[in-house]
Amino acid sequence: MQTAARWPLFWLLPYSVWSYSGVTAESNALNFVQRKVLPRVSPPPELPAAESAPSKPWHVHKYICVAHHKAGLFLVRDLCKAVFDTLGATPSEMGEWIQPCYPRTCVHPKAPIQFWMDLYSYERAQEAREAAGAKGMRVVGIVRDPVSVIVSAYCYHHRGEEPGNVVFENTTLMHMGPKQGLKFVAERMLQLVENMTSAFEQPFNDTFHLVYEKVTQSSEAFDQQVGEMTSFLFQPDLISPAQRSQVLNATQSADLHRHPGANGDHGNDKACEDEVRKYVPSLPPELLSRYRSFQERLGYAASEEGLSQQSSFGEVLTASEGNQAATMA
Ligand SMILES: *[C@@H]1O[C@H](CO)[C@@H](O)[C@H](O)[C@H]1NC(C)=O
Ligand SMILES: *[C@@H]1O[C@H](CO)[C@@H](O)[C@H](O)[C@H]1NC(C)=O
Ligand SMILES: *[C@@H]1O[C@H](CO)[C@@H](O)[C@H](O)[C@H]1NC(C)=O
Ligand SMILES: *[C@@H]1O[C@H](CO)[C@@H](O)[C@H](O)[C@H]1NC(C)=O
Repeated sequence: MQTAARWPLFWLLPYSVWSYSGVTAESNALNFVQRKVLPRVSPPPELPAAESAPSKPWHVHKYICVAHHKAGLFLVRDLCKAVFDTLGATPSEMGEWIQPCYPRTCVHPKAPIQFWMDLYSYERAQEAREAAGAKGMRVVGIVRDPVSVIVSAYCYHHRGEEPGNVVFENTTLMHMGPKQGLKFVAERMLQLVENMTSAFEQPFNDTFHLVYEKVTQSSEAFDQQVGEMTSFLFQPDLISPAQRSQVLNATQSADLHRHPGANGDHGNDKACEDEVRKYVPSLPPELLSRYRSFQERLGYAASEEGLSQQSSFGEVLTASEGNQAATMA
């Protein structure tokens, strides 16, 4: 319970409504039964009739938002919540799952809209694809330079965030300097970053890649990526133009340039990241080569720490998004 109380995911943040709603296993099961019996008969709630698309998008496809630790997880959470809230999704239509499953963090596993944290991989994607069947799934996943992920994780946990996080053995990192600490983080996150890499190294026509470095670069870049994402999720006409405007307006709340601190205190001091990045080359060679290979597989230039970040990878991923869009059209 201590862990639960200190785990700062959803319910501790006032703006976070995609949250545990006190639903018990029984009412969960009841909701599921009701959905099975009733889903298409109930009239579309909330939106004025003139604005309603024929059906809710999540009656058409299964939606999954995906993020891994320190790769924009809270940003994706806020973004997806803004999108589906605006379209009238109810709390029980939005499930969430995290690995490991902290008390009360895993809810509504059957909901048609899911937010999956720290568990997505190539295999899990294939399983989800099969499970979605003929409906098809639409996935939004965020990708970040794997080396930046570990640098960020060190700074974040070193300053004492998420003291109940079992992956990092509670507060262990607070007592480790950057050299030792970065190695610790790189080891602890190896499987997670491998999974992020395997899930996103190749494009799939049901999956949209948000690029962390782009979506956090400026408000213009944010709007552009989120606009493409919205088109991708709801094409060809699952939402009306008016709904699209409302969605785009609502998503702006997740833009850190418009609203610094919007995603809670999950960013880092740039000075810390710059300093810790200097220790990357001193990781044990086998460990470093794993992370270099993740960078390559995701299209991030793996040469000079810090300098490489702003240029090449964005285009690589944009090109694959272009392919997706072309295939979808
Ligand atoms: C982490 O903290 C929890 C709760 O305080 C405790 O039960 C657990 O044993 C701790 N784990 C480690 C590895 O220190
Ligand atoms: C990584 O993916 C594998 C295969 O899907 C899964 O079994 C494992 O739990 C995942 N681990 C993490 C840390 O994401
Ligand atoms: C745009 O979003 C803000 C809050 O994020 C809201 O107050 C405003 O009513 C929205 N405007 C429209 C036209 O939906
Ligand atoms: C993805 O491609 C497959 C095979 O070409 C096709 O059957 C499917 O309809 C496409 N899905 C989307 C969402 O475009």
